[in-house]
Amino acid sequence: MIEMKNVYFSYNGKEALSNISFKMQEEFVAIMGPNGSGKTTLIKLVMGLLEPEKGEIKVFGEEPKKVMEYIGYMPQRDAIARHFPIRVRDIVLMGIHKKKFYARKDIEKARETLKAVGLDLWNELFSELSGGMQQRVLFARALVKEPRLIILDEPFNAVDLPSREKMLEILKEKRKEGIPIVVVVHNINPILHEIDKVLLLNRRMIAYGNPKEALNEQNLKKAYGSDVQIIVCDEGYCHPLIGDTHA
Ligand SMILES: Nc1ncnc2c1ncn2[C@@H]1O[C@H](COP(=O)(O)OP(=O)(O)OP(=O)(O)O)[C@@H](O)[C@H]1O
Ligand SMILES: [Mg+2]
Repeated sequence: MIEMKNVYFSYNGKEALSNISFKMQEEFVAIMGPNGSGKTTLIKLVMGLLEPEKGEIKVFGEEPKKVMEYIGYMPQRDAIARHFPIRVRDIVLMGIHKKKFYARKDIEKARETLKAVGLDLWNELFSELSGGMQQRVLFARALVKEPRLIILDEPFNAVDLPSREKMLEILKEKRKEGIPIVVVVHNINPILHEIDKVLLLNRRMIAYGNPKEALNEQNLKKAYGSDVQIIVCDEGYCHPLIGDTHA
Protein backbone atom coordinates (compact mmCIF):
# COMPACT_ATOMS: atom_id res chain seq x y z
CA MET A 1 0.00 0.00 0.00
CA ILE A 2 2.77 2.46 0.97
CA GLU A 3 6.22 1.18 0.19
CA MET A 4 9.53 3.02 0.47
CA LYS A 5 12.82 1.46 -0.60
CA ASN A 6 16.12 3.12 0.30
CA VAL A 7 14.69 6.62 0.06
CA TYR A 8 16.90 9.69 0.51
CA PHE A 9 15.85 13.32 0.48
CA SER A 10 17.78 16.59 0.91
CA TYR A 11 16.79 20.26 0.92
CA ASN A 12 19.51 22.26 -0.85
CA GLY A 13 22.14 19.63 -0.13
CA LYS A 14 21.11 19.25 3.52
CA GLU A 15 19.99 15.70 4.18
CA ALA A 16 16.52 15.47 5.71
CA LEU A 17 15.91 11.73 5.24
CA SER A 18 18.44 8.98 4.82
CA ASN A 19 17.87 5.43 3.63
CA ILE A 20 14.21 5.02 4.59
CA SER A 21 12.62 1.64 3.84
CA PHE A 22 9.29 0.35 5.10
CA LYS A 23 6.09 -1.29 3.94
CA MET A 24 2.68 -0.39 5.21
CA GLN A 25 -0.49 -2.36 4.62
CA GLU A 26 -4.05 -1.45 5.62
CA GLU A 27 -3.06 -0.22 9.03
CA PHE A 28 -3.17 2.68 11.43
CA VAL A 29 0.42 3.93 11.65
CA ALA A 30 1.80 6.73 13.83
CA ILE A 31 4.96 8.58 12.84
CA MET A 32 6.96 9.96 15.76
CA GLY A 33 10.25 11.80 16.07
CA PRO A 34 11.69 15.07 17.36
CA ASN A 35 11.25 18.43 15.62
CA GLY A 36 13.14 18.50 12.35
CA SER A 37 13.42 14.70 12.16
CA GLY A 38 11.80 14.56 8.71
CA LYS A 39 8.21 13.52 9.55
CA THR A 40 6.55 16.13 7.36
CA THR A 41 9.11 15.54 4.62
CA LEU A 42 8.32 11.82 4.65
CA ILE A 43 4.60 12.50 4.36
CA LYS A 44 5.15 14.93 1.49
CA LEU A 45 7.11 12.25 -0.35
CA VAL A 46 4.20 9.82 0.09
CA MET A 47 1.82 12.49 -1.22
CA GLY A 48 4.01 13.11 -4.27
CA LEU A 49 4.53 16.73 -3.20
CA LEU A 50 8.29 16.09 -3.07
CA GLU A 51 10.40 13.73 -5.17
CA PRO A 52 13.00 11.46 -3.59
CA GLU A 53 16.60 12.11 -4.41
CA LYS A 54 17.27 8.38 -4.44
CA GLY A 55 15.15 5.30 -3.85
CA GLU A 56 11.65 4.22 -4.73
CA ILE A 57 8.21 5.11 -3.41
CA LYS A 58 5.02 3.29 -4.32
CA VAL A 59 1.52 4.06 -3.07
CA PHE A 60 -1.15 1.54 -4.05
CA GLY A 61 1.55 0.14 -6.33
CA GLU A 62 1.81 3.42 -8.28
CA GLU A 63 3.92 6.56 -8.41
CA PRO A 64 2.67 8.82 -5.58
CA LYS A 65 1.61 11.60 -7.98
CA LYS A 66 -0.78 9.24 -9.76
CA VAL A 67 -2.75 8.42 -6.62
CA MET A 68 -2.72 11.83 -4.95
CA GLU A 69 -6.44 12.27 -5.58
CA TYR A 70 -7.26 9.22 -3.46
CA ILE A 71 -5.46 10.58 -0.43
CA GLY A 72 -7.15 12.66 2.25
CA TYR A 73 -4.40 14.93 3.55
CA MET A 74 -4.32 17.27 6.51
CA PRO A 75 -1.19 19.44 6.48
CA GLN A 76 0.60 20.56 9.60
CA ARG A 77 -0.98 23.61 11.19
CA ASP A 78 1.95 25.94 10.60
CA ALA A 79 1.84 25.22 6.85
CA ILE A 80 -1.58 26.82 6.47
CA ALA A 81 -2.16 30.48 5.65
CA ARG A 82 -4.53 30.93 8.56
CA HIS A 83 -5.31 34.58 7.91
CA PHE A 84 -6.34 34.22 4.30
CA PRO A 85 -9.94 35.42 3.86
CA ILE A 86 -11.66 32.19 2.89
CA ARG A 87 -14.88 30.63 4.14
CA VAL A 88 -15.16 27.33 5.98
CA ARG A 89 -17.31 25.80 3.24
CA ASP A 90 -14.72 26.61 0.57
CA ILE A 91 -11.93 25.02 2.58
CA VAL A 92 -13.91 21.80 3.04
CA LEU A 93 -15.10 21.68 -0.57
CA MET A 94 -11.46 22.05 -1.68
CA GLY A 95 -11.03 18.49 -0.41
CA ILE A 96 -13.28 17.23 -3.21
CA HIS A 97 -11.03 18.41 -6.04
CA LYS A 98 -13.62 19.43 -8.58
CA LYS A 99 -12.43 21.56 -11.44
CA LYS A 100 -15.59 23.43 -12.34
CA PHE A 101 -18.56 23.23 -10.01
CA TYR A 102 -19.80 21.28 -7.04
CA ALA A 103 -22.90 19.10 -7.26
CA ARG A 104 -25.59 19.16 -4.61
CA LYS A 105 -24.27 15.90 -3.21
CA ASP A 106 -20.81 17.46 -2.73
CA ILE A 107 -22.36 20.29 -0.74
CA GLU A 108 -24.34 17.83 1.36
CA LYS A 109 -21.27 15.70 1.96
CA ALA A 110 -19.28 18.77 3.05
CA ARG A 111 -22.01 19.84 5.51
CA GLU A 112 -22.33 16.32 6.85
CA THR A 113 -18.55 15.99 7.35
CA LEU A 114 -18.38 19.28 9.25
CA LYS A 115 -21.23 18.09 11.50
CA ALA A 116 -19.41 14.80 12.08
CA VAL A 117 -16.39 16.68 13.44
CA GLY A 118 -18.71 18.68 15.69
CA LEU A 119 -18.71 21.94 13.75
CA ASP A 120 -21.95 23.68 12.92
CA LEU A 121 -20.22 26.10 10.55
CA TRP A 122 -20.56 26.96 6.87
CA ASN A 123 -20.21 30.59 5.78
CA GLU A 124 -17.91 31.63 8.62
CA LEU A 125 -14.46 32.96 7.81
CA PHE A 126 -11.76 30.40 8.51
CA SER A 127 -9.43 33.16 9.77
CA GLU A 128 -11.90 34.05 12.55
CA LEU A 129 -12.02 30.57 14.06
CA SER A 130 -9.95 29.37 17.00
CA GLY A 131 -6.87 27.26 16.29
CA GLY A 132 -8.57 24.04 17.38
CA MET A 133 -11.62 24.75 15.22
CA GLN A 134 -9.40 25.46 12.24
CA GLN A 135 -7.76 22.08 12.81
CA ARG A 136 -11.16 20.37 12.73
CA VAL A 137 -12.11 22.17 9.51
CA LEU A 138 -8.91 20.85 7.94
CA PHE A 139 -9.70 17.39 9.30
CA ALA A 140 -13.11 17.61 7.61
CA ARG A 141 -11.41 18.65 4.37
CA ALA A 142 -9.20 15.54 4.52
CA LEU A 143 -12.24 13.27 4.97
CA VAL A 144 -14.80 14.82 2.66
CA LYS A 145 -13.86 12.93 -0.49
CA GLU A 146 -14.04 9.50 1.19
CA PRO A 147 -10.30 8.95 0.71
CA ARG A 148 -8.70 5.56 0.16
CA LEU A 149 -5.79 6.60 2.36
CA ILE A 150 -5.76 9.18 5.15
CA ILE A 151 -2.61 11.14 6.02
CA LEU A 152 -2.70 13.62 8.91
CA ASP A 153 0.22 15.79 10.03
CA GLU A 154 -0.20 16.57 13.75
CA PRO A 155 -4.00 16.53 13.58
CA PHE A 156 -4.64 16.89 17.31
CA ASN A 157 -2.46 19.95 17.77
CA ALA A 158 -4.46 22.64 19.65
CA VAL A 159 -7.59 20.47 19.65
CA ASP A 160 -9.49 20.13 22.95
CA LEU A 161 -10.08 16.72 24.52
CA PRO A 162 -13.72 16.14 23.51
CA SER A 163 -12.94 17.14 19.92
CA ARG A 164 -9.90 14.90 19.87
CA GLU A 165 -12.09 12.01 21.02
CA LYS A 166 -14.56 12.79 18.24
CA MET A 167 -11.77 12.82 15.65
CA LEU A 168 -10.43 9.55 17.00
CA GLU A 169 -13.87 7.92 16.81
CA ILE A 170 -14.06 8.89 13.14
CA LEU A 171 -10.59 7.49 12.49
CA LYS A 172 -11.50 4.24 14.25
CA GLU A 173 -14.54 3.93 11.98
CA LYS A 174 -12.35 4.50 8.91
CA ARG A 175 -9.89 1.94 10.19
CA LYS A 176 -12.75 -0.57 10.52
CA GLU A 177 -13.70 0.14 6.91
CA GLY A 178 -10.16 -0.89 5.95
CA ILE A 179 -8.89 2.61 5.15
CA PRO A 180 -5.19 2.93 5.97
CA ILE A 181 -4.31 5.89 8.20
CA VAL A 182 -0.99 7.64 8.82
CA VAL A 183 -0.75 10.25 11.57
CA VAL A 184 2.19 12.30 12.76
CA VAL A 185 1.96 12.83 16.53
CA HIS A 186 4.19 14.05 19.33
CA ASN A 187 2.10 12.48 22.05
CA ILE A 188 1.36 8.85 21.32
CA ASN A 189 -0.69 8.17 24.45
CA PRO A 190 -4.16 9.15 23.21
CA ILE A 191 -3.88 6.82 20.22
CA LEU A 192 -1.65 4.13 21.66
CA HIS A 193 -4.39 1.52 21.79
CA GLU A 194 -5.73 2.29 18.34
CA ILE A 195 -2.57 2.13 16.27
CA ASP A 196 -1.06 -0.96 14.68
CA LYS A 197 2.44 0.37 14.13
CA VAL A 198 4.82 3.19 14.99
CA LEU A 199 7.49 4.58 12.71
CA LEU A 200 10.14 6.23 14.84
CA LEU A 201 12.20 8.69 12.87
CA ASN A 202 15.23 10.86 13.26
CA ARG A 203 16.33 11.44 9.67
CA ARG A 204 17.04 7.72 9.65
CA MET A 205 14.44 5.16 10.53
CA ILE A 206 15.02 4.19 14.15
CA ALA A 207 12.19 1.65 14.40
CA TYR A 208 9.12 0.44 12.58
CA GLY A 209 6.82 -2.06 14.22
CA ASN A 210 4.14 -2.55 16.81
CA PRO A 211 4.23 0.14 19.51
CA LYS A 212 5.33 -2.21 22.25
CA GLU A 213 8.43 -3.27 20.33
CA ALA A 214 9.22 0.04 18.67
CA LEU A 215 8.81 2.28 21.71
CA ASN A 216 11.42 0.77 23.98
CA GLU A 217 13.76 2.95 25.95
CA GLN A 218 16.74 2.29 23.69
CA ASN A 219 14.89 3.34 20.53
CA LEU A 220 13.40 6.41 22.19
CA LYS A 221 16.86 7.51 23.32
CA LYS A 222 18.18 6.97 19.81
CA ALA A 223 15.41 9.16 18.44
CA TYR A 224 15.24 11.86 21.09
CA GLY A 225 18.72 11.84 22.63
CA SER A 226 19.93 10.39 25.88
CA ASP A 227 18.71 13.23 28.08
CA VAL A 228 15.08 12.75 27.16
CA GLN A 229 12.89 11.93 30.10
CA ILE A 230 11.16 8.63 29.47
CA ILE A 231 7.82 8.04 31.12
CA VAL A 232 7.03 4.39 31.36
CA CYS A 233 3.36 4.09 30.58
CA ASP A 234 0.96 1.28 31.31
CA GLU A 235 1.58 -2.24 30.05
CA GLY A 236 5.28 -1.55 29.58
CA TYR A 237 4.89 1.02 26.81
CA CYS A 238 7.35 3.86 26.97
CA HIS A 239 6.63 7.40 25.96
CA PRO A 240 9.00 10.35 25.73
CA LEU A 241 8.09 13.53 27.56
CA ILE A 242 8.83 16.21 25.02
CA GLY A 243 7.54 19.55 23.83
CA ASP A 244 3.92 19.61 22.95
CA THR A 245 2.01 17.30 25.28
CA HIS A 246 -1.47 18.01 23.91
CA ALA A 247 -0.78 16.98 20.31
N1 LIG B 1 11.16 23.78 2.52
C1 LIG B 1 12.29 23.51 3.18
N2 LIG B 1 13.47 24.05 2.78
C2 LIG B 1 14.62 23.77 3.44
N3 LIG B 1 14.70 22.95 4.50
C3 LIG B 1 13.57 22.40 4.94
C4 LIG B 1 12.30 22.64 4.31
N4 LIG B 1 11.35 21.94 4.96
C5 LIG B 1 11.98 21.28 5.96
N5 LIG B 1 13.31 21.54 5.95
C6 LIG B 1 14.32 20.99 6.88
O1 LIG B 1 14.27 19.56 6.79
C7 LIG B 1 14.35 18.97 8.08
C8 LIG B 1 13.12 18.10 8.33
O2 LIG B 1 11.98 18.94 8.39
P1 LIG B 1 10.51 18.38 8.59
O3 LIG B 1 9.59 19.54 8.48
O4 LIG B 1 10.29 17.24 7.71
O5 LIG B 1 10.59 17.88 10.11
P2 LIG B 1 9.43 17.41 11.10
O6 LIG B 1 9.89 16.13 11.72
O7 LIG B 1 8.13 17.44 10.42
O8 LIG B 1 9.49 18.54 12.26
P3 LIG B 1 8.31 19.17 13.20
O9 LIG B 1 8.11 18.22 14.35
O10 LIG B 1 8.89 20.46 13.67
O11 LIG B 1 7.10 19.35 12.35
C9 LIG B 1 14.53 20.12 9.06
O12 LIG B 1 15.90 20.28 9.31
C10 LIG B 1 13.99 21.32 8.32
O13 LIG B 1 14.65 22.50 8.71
MG1 LIG C 1 6.37 18.45 10.70
